[in-house]
Amino acid sequence: MSEPDVPKFDAPRHVAIIMDGNGRWAAARGLPRGEGHRRGVEALRRTVRAAGELGVQVLTIFSFSAENWSRPAAEIRELMGLLRRFIRHDLAELHGNNVRIRIIGEREGLDPDIGRLIAEAEELTRANDGVTLVVAFNYGARQEIARAARRIATEVAEGRLAAADVSVEKLAGFLDTTDLPDPDLIVRTSGEQRLSNFLLWQSAYSELVFVPTYWPDFDRAALESAISEYHRRERRFGGLVARTGS
Ligand code: IPE
Ligand code: IPE
Ligand code: MG
Repeated sequence: MSEPDVPKFDAPRHVAIIMDGNGRWAAARGLPRGEGHRRGVEALRRTVRAAGELGVQVLTIFSFSAENWSRPAAEIRELMGLLRRFIRHDLAELHGNNVRIRIIGEREGLDPDIGRLIAEAEELTRANDGVTLVVAFNYGARQEIARAARRIATEVAEGRLAAADVSVEKLAGFLDTTDLPDPDLIVRTSGEQRLSNFLLWQSAYSELVFVPTYWPDFDRAALESAISEYHRRERRFGGLVARTGS
């Protein structure tokens, strides 16, 4: 008997993706960069579906970095418009598919309607227990760590926390990713081999896979292939015993 939905292999629990190469995808076709971003949203829909089918529990996607504000205003408007449309059009379907949405990144200073949409998406899907889709939006890892440090400093100054109790676990609890597992696998598309201020704390022992595919071309086969590469890695976490793709 065939069971098409049974995953072919154990999926990593948490996969994070740096969705890069929209602009180059468009340029290669003589199209405006915005067309690359629009096609990127379609790749995102495919990837969320594939992640669920493959048994990934947490999928984090880097959708807009704290540094992306340095792009031309027109491109920023397009990216904000795409986020609005993504939430408005896809929220009901994601909710119907039992997806739980979490947004990480700085919320201060965002357009108020975007803040409301983000809150609505999180609120509506809070109790879902399917794939957790973590959207890194207006996110920078250094800024996230600085925010955590500020909050810890306040707690210490107000006497609610002893400086000696600021441990790795304590600090992790002040990050945007509190209560999420660290990514097992981080995939970056487009051939660039850097993290660009993404999950610097949480990636301490993540496996990094860089693929040449531009993000708009990413699909289930590309995700499966990145996961296969992950399974060929030996994770040692500083010890001597290898844990293969666990
Ligand atoms: C990724 O594609 C989307 C965002 C960073 C928002 P890019 O827009 O960075 O595309 P390239 O890297 O210029 O090709
Ligand atoms: C990283 O891509 C940010 C996102 C994918 C949202 P960038 O295209 O902004 O990164 P750099 O500038 O090439 O490092
Ligand atoms: Mg880029």
